[in-house]
Amino acid sequence: MNVKHQASFASLSGSRRISWLCALALLVFTGFHAVAAMAQTGATIRYDATTRIFRIDAANTSYVLGINENQQVQSLYWGKRLGADDTFPAAKAMPEAASFDLPITTTPHEFIGWGGGLFVEPDLKITFPDGNRDLVLKYVSHRIDGNKLDIVMKDISREVYVTLQYQADPETGILRRSADIENRTDSPFTIEQVAAATWNLPRGTDYRLRYLTGRWAGEWNVQKQDIHPGKTVLESRRGTTGAQNNPWFAIDHVGNNDQDSGPVWFGALGWSGSWQISVEQDQLQQVRVTGGLNAFDFGYRLQKGEHFQTPYFYGGYSAHGIGGASRLMHRFEIDSLLPHAPTPKLRPVLYNSWEATEFRVDEAGQMALAEKAATLGVERFVMDDGWFGQRKDDHAGLGDWYVNPQKFPHGLKPLIDKVHSLGMDFGLWVEPEMVNPDSDLYRKHPDWVLNFSGRPRTEGRNQLVLNLARPDVRAYVYGFLDKLLTENDIAFLKWDYNRNWSEPGWPAVAPEDQKKVYVDFIRNLYSILAELRAKHPNVEIESCSGGGSRVDLGILQYTDEVWPSDNTDAYDRLLIQNGFTYAYTPGVMMAWVTDSPTWVNQRTLSLEYRFLSSMQGSLGIGANLNKWTPEDFATAKKMVAQYKSIRETVQRGSLYRLITPEDNSEQSVTESVSRDGKQAVTFAFLHSSRELYPYPRIYLRGLDAKANYRISALDGKLAKDTPDSASGAYWMNHGVDVELRGDFQAAAFTLEQAGAAKAGN
Ligand code: GLA
Repeated sequence: MNVKHQASFASLSGSRRISWLCALALLVFTGFHAVAAMAQTGATIRYDATTRIFRIDAANTSYVLGINENQQVQSLYWGKRLGADDTFPAAKAMPEAASFDLPITTTPHEFIGWGGGLFVEPDLKITFPDGNRDLVLKYVSHRIDGNKLDIVMKDISREVYVTLQYQADPETGILRRSADIENRTDSPFTIEQVAAATWNLPRGTDYRLRYLTGRWAGEWNVQKQDIHPGKTVLESRRGTTGAQNNPWFAIDHVGNNDQDSGPVWFGALGWSGSWQISVEQDQLQQVRVTGGLNAFDFGYRLQKGEHFQTPYFYGGYSAHGIGGASRLMHRFEIDSLLPHAPTPKLRPVLYNSWEATEFRVDEAGQMALAEKAATLGVERFVMDDGWFGQRKDDHAGLGDWYVNPQKFPHGLKPLIDKVHSLGMDFGLWVEPEMVNPDSDLYRKHPDWVLNFSGRPRTEGRNQLVLNLARPDVRAYVYGFLDKLLTENDIAFLKWDYNRNWSEPGWPAVAPEDQKKVYVDFIRNLYSILAELRAKHPNVEIESCSGGGSRVDLGILQYTDEVWPSDNTDAYDRLLIQNGFTYAYTPGVMMAWVTDSPTWVNQRTLSLEYRFLSSMQGSLGIGANLNKWTPEDFATAKKMVAQYKSIRETVQRGSLYRLITPEDNSEQSVTESVSRDGKQAVTFAFLHSSRELYPYPRIYLRGLDAKANYRISALDGKLAKDTPDSASGAYWMNHGVDVELRGDFQAAAFTLEQAGAAKAGN
């Protein structure tokens, strides 16, 4: 991949760098090819030349692989960290179970080419110009460099080289895997299927898979299903990540109902195009998870001398349940993945006018809203769709990125100046990869969209997808965005993407190269984002795709936050946000307070309820402030101030799902504990009271049992006999009662550490 990823494991924080240096300083050579000292927080990689075994230890995880007698790279262990001196027998391929299931199919491989008699999901499938499609990769060499391991493999006869790449995160133990395919033959060949990696679980028959499904306005549903023989395919064929499946999985043991205990293996792809993760239990009950580009309609012709770098497939292990797995993901995203990792800025409280005005934006109207938003303590004012071209509704204008002269006769400057004078920064909505047929751009360049020559061009929301793989389209998109950011003091872009692909043709290139669009489009998207960020380093970007259709670890390397859903009903959001946080941190999860009754369900909810729902993520306001009463302003102002006092805990802390809203639960409770352990904030929601039952007692988690914590209600719904302060042990074991009765009720309270508890605790 040409894209230079900005954030990487290599960009370690100061303290992590020090621990890594210490680990290196303790290098010991005891018969190992390369040995680094072990520490629970560091990452070390060792190779035993006698057994030909690699051992990766990072944080609380060990990952072991070896070269077997067939020179294949075989998975040996993935799980909780093992003893420093534990040794492993050499890797050995499975014996022939039956003439129908040869060793190549039943042996757990790290990465396997399609060749020999392979019937499980291959990692790589190639067609050579002579029609030959057999690929048998064997170990050639390896290189260990700090927390990185490269293993080079080569086909038995052809000059096809594959380098398996591993990088271990010292803080979370999350491994980043990918593969580089190199064509050193004399002619081009076509990659027809390519994964980043395969993860093999320890042999077992009682596994359960969690994954995320959804649709527009109904994203982030958590699915659970037992793993049986056969294959479950999670995928997008849409050209983009999609909300229908998100590229994340987690596997634990059937029947474990505790969020925070038990082993969990999890992973996520860093790719914003068509993708595929297959979870397969083979004939010998081995479970393997293979992920990478979607093989459907795929083909990538690799010229002689060229490399193909796959996306990253991240994987991790938690001994602390699915909750622990989420916390590792959150920590990894904040500390190692986001553009400003390990110190991304806290999300400002923003106002967005979309639900208030839709396309009816103009200078006076936006200024009036900005004045009102500023009184609430809002820090960023964002103007949404409607400010450009001939954009009156969704039928026209996309592609014409000039400021509409009727709505903004003096350009954007007066509005931006006004927003600044009110103490806020300014953000703007764009949808760079799209075009309306009713636009100057499309009239001039009808060939710039994805299309098959002579075939209909299917519109979605009256728009077509620009073919960003084309160099001229890439130049146009980068050019207008760069100009916009150069000429205007813009702090934030809401980057939208409101449909998926259709007719994904690229007639301008040779037929054999047209399917490259699935890769080159995404590479250009990433490179535009990277280039814009480099040139305008203070600009922050939100990934939005009609809600949460483009959220993945690929786009998160280039964006600061995401829009999880267009559904802003604060009750629906509990479920949406719950699912979101299985894979992604609340620190990037934008959540607006909007009007009631909501457009989604016509449900009426109190302003307090709406705020508390949104305060579990990165708070925004998207209501029509022109309709608010003075009481609404007073409530909102108070709650924005409260949010600011807890936002670091919510955005950076450890999240515990005390009661999930899944399975039609009447309650939903989350708790976030700050990184320094000094503050915890709990949000509790009730759907409806029934038959006089009180709200269940809330048992906190993640506190220091021996420390004292003072409790305060954010809105006065604690049971009257709640002590003012008590030990962590008390709050975790005795618990807290909240007085919630009625329909759609909410409460929140904080615990602040106030010294050590008295002896006896
Ligand atoms: C998408 C976004 C919305 C809004 C509209 C504007 O639907 O998800 O938040 O920006 O586009 O057209």
